[in-house]
Amino acid sequence: MRAVIYEREGPASEVLRVTEIPRPEPGPGEVRVRVSFSAVNPTDWKSRSGATARRIDQFQVPHHDGSGVIDAVGEGVDEGRIGQRVWLWMAAAGRPWGTAAQWSVVPEWQAVPLPDRCSLELGASLGVPALTAHRCLFADGDLEGRTVLVAGGAGAVGHFAIELARHRGARVVATVSTPEKADLARRAGADLVVNYREEGALERIRAFTDTVDRVVEVNLAANLTMDLGLASPETVVSVYAIDTPDPVLPVRACMAANVTLRFVLLYGVPPAELHRGVLEVGRALEAGALTELPVHRFPLDQCAAAQDAVQAGAVGKVLLEIG
Ligand SMILES: NC(=O)c1ccc[n+]([C@@H]2O[C@H](COP(=O)([O-])OP(=O)(O)OC[C@H]3O[C@@H](n4cnc5c(N)ncnc54)[C@H](OP(=O)(O)O)[C@@H]3O)[C@@H](O)[C@H]2O)c1
Repeated sequence: MRAVIYEREGPASEVLRVTEIPRPEPGPGEVRVRVSFSAVNPTDWKSRSGATARRIDQFQVPHHDGSGVIDAVGEGVDEGRIGQRVWLWMAAAGRPWGTAAQWSVVPEWQAVPLPDRCSLELGASLGVPALTAHRCLFADGDLEGRTVLVAGGAGAVGHFAIELARHRGARVVATVSTPEKADLARRAGADLVVNYREEGALERIRAFTDTVDRVVEVNLAANLTMDLGLASPETVVSVYAIDTPDPVLPVRACMAANVTLRFVLLYGVPPAELHRGVLEVGRALEAGALTELPVHRFPLDQCAAAQDAVQAGAVGKVLLEIG
């Protein structure tokens, strides 16, 4: 099969290559998927570049997320799943068979049925972002009637955080940095959208709500003052990203706010909680509550350009169109 692989870490254009490798067979408890779309997430280029290195076992096909159709099942898996449209998540975690190839093989729970109403592009976009958003939102209880602040509401995680929170009955405030991103956050359903780079952003949010119950935080170092300014003793700030050196935490201010900081890294979320995330993202999909971000399509052999586009901050989802 045609696949993108890398055998060592480094710049995309140097280490990613398109080649022929044997098509994988599904083992016990696994399914094989003919991949339609492979989605690029920041974690994919960070692993490939060595920024957050992961073990490479001979070679690695990159990309955790994707969508496609099951065409073979391993021992113990219902043969009725053959022909099912699915979305894939974390396909490359501890395994060589990422989604940047014509076929991928994953444990069957990582190939989730995609409702007929949903496009394969939406299916490919879900995995890492939607499951991260779910963990940040719901690890500390339900959100019916609560207020959520989503920092970076036009990012992939931010987008699904807005939609999942709204779907579960929360009011949502989102922050963004440009009018284009404000439009995306509004379309996702945010009740209030504020440009966090403008003077008076905190005051604009305070005019809408005194406090928030949950913060889905993409940049704690930059936003902690705002988060503490909206915190009550019931507030949980769920931190899922850090792209700067570790910030110094103002412990006294955090204590004074009685705020709870939760840290989220998908690779270490307990399996039972991931399972709950998969189920609840699936229910939101069935209900039509999740939508696509703008899609940027690349062919398989431009995988390096696709990863570079994500690293450069593409707005929306970058997908490899494969099958
Ligand atoms: N912990 C985990 O398990 C996990 C899972 C998924 C993703 N991540 C990480 O989370 C980050 C985002 O991932 P993604 O896929 O959502 O990326 P993305 O689609 O590129 O979105 C990132 C968004 O964050 C916004 N942003 C950056 N700094 C901000 C700030 N100070 N306040 C508000 N918004 C800010 C960006 O817009 P502006 O810069 O224009 O504001 C952008 O819209 C990446 O670093 C990724 O590696 C971690």
